Amino acid sequence: MPKITFIDVNGNSRECEVPSGISVMEGAIQNGIEGILAICGGSCACSTCHSYIDEAWMAVVGKPDEIEDSTLELALDRRPNSRLTCQIEVTDALDGLVVHVAQNDG
Ligand code: FES
Repeated sequence: MPKITFIDVNGNSRECEVPSGISVMEGAIQNGIEGILAICGGSCACSTCHSYIDEAWMAVVGKPDEIEDSTLELALDRRPNSRLTCQIEVTDALDGLVVHVAQNDG
């Protein structure tokens, strides 16, 4: 099962096993990662699953599509490596992924 490391806004780091086929956001929720609110439930409408993809993983994870890009405009402190984690599907290729949770509670 792919392992994903989540680093929250306080710098706490947790490595979690997340099954392939669900989203990175769902993996965070299942593991109780602080700061991933996911208010819209994963429909790319709220931006409260905003995170920064570790630079080393940007090429693998890829860029947001047009819809995600416009929802990301709602996020605080958007950066070049910003993604909405509900829009990233976990696959074996993401084993070892490092995700830095953004400030999502205002
Ligand atoms: S959970 Fe709302 S945009 Fe990702």
